[in-house]
Amino acid sequence: MRIVATRRLPGPAWDELLDVELLEEWPPAEPLPGVEVLIEVIARVSEAELDLLPDLRLVANYGVGYDPVDVAACRARGVAVTNTPGVLDAAVADLTLALILATRRNVVAADRFVREGRWRGDWARPEIVGRDLSGSRLGLVGFGRIGQAVARRAEAFGMEVVFHRRSEGLPLDELVATSDVVSLHVPLTAETRGLISRERLALLRDGATLVNTARGGVVDEDALVEELVSGRISAGLDVFADEPRVPEALRDLPNVVLTPHVASATTETRAAMTRIVVDNVLAYLAGEPLLTPVDR
Ligand code: 8YV
Repeated sequence: MRIVATRRLPGPAWDELLDVELLEEWPPAEPLPGVEVLIEVIARVSEAELDLLPDLRLVANYGVGYDPVDVAACRARGVAVTNTPGVLDAAVADLTLALILATRRNVVAADRFVREGRWRGDWARPEIVGRDLSGSRLGLVGFGRIGQAVARRAEAFGMEVVFHRRSEGLPLDELVATSDVVSLHVPLTAETRGLISRERLALLRDGATLVNTARGGVVDEDALVEELVSGRISAGLDVFADEPRVPEALRDLPNVVLTPHVASATTETRAAMTRIVVDNVLAYLAGEPLLTPVDR
């Protein structure tokens, strides 16, 4: 029985897994017979990859989002899939607030202003003067664990919080058209791909901010880039449609704050995610129920 991983995971729990083979490339160049467990980090697992692992029984996904894994194809072959829910809600919510603050208060532009030696006592530079969070409206698209953690933080900043989720809250178009900040907290599924379409982006108020710590594919990225280039709106983006590719046009824009998919990237959270991955693998090896299967 073999266990393979596309990467070594951070944190002490990793060492509890003995004999994990680290793969040099994904997908593997050759079939991997005898591999029952695959530990992966945002790696595509579809029919073609499953064909290369004929004995696979478990895909342990490092992350709460598992959109690159074809869960239906796995299920059809009797392969279980697990993810890492719960432990990263606070870290993702924190980075969401960091992006809201950075965009609304021009933190990155202000930092650049100081570094470039342009601070000569004129503290009221128009490109640095921002907007209050207090009294502004935050529209949350998705209101699961992460959306709710963002709501609690935003309320502490005095924001008025509204939300949309499938069967509850404000209709999506109304939320987009009436919020100062729209923040995305839905998984990427067939239903949410392109949810923030060109038409919906056009509904955003002048001067509104879009924050995305969910998945790039939830937004029509070409349309978003056009809106940002026009300067009509601003954005804080941690995720992109085709990572690690970031649309070239965004690089020099002052109205965008860019981070490299790091919403869960704290030492504590990443270690806690590894703990869940390892516990799922140990449960599989012991013949016990998996902790966090994705299709309960
Ligand atoms: C990454 C994430 O998977 O949990 C998710 O859905 O997007 C992240 O936590 C993780 O950081 C690995 O890159």
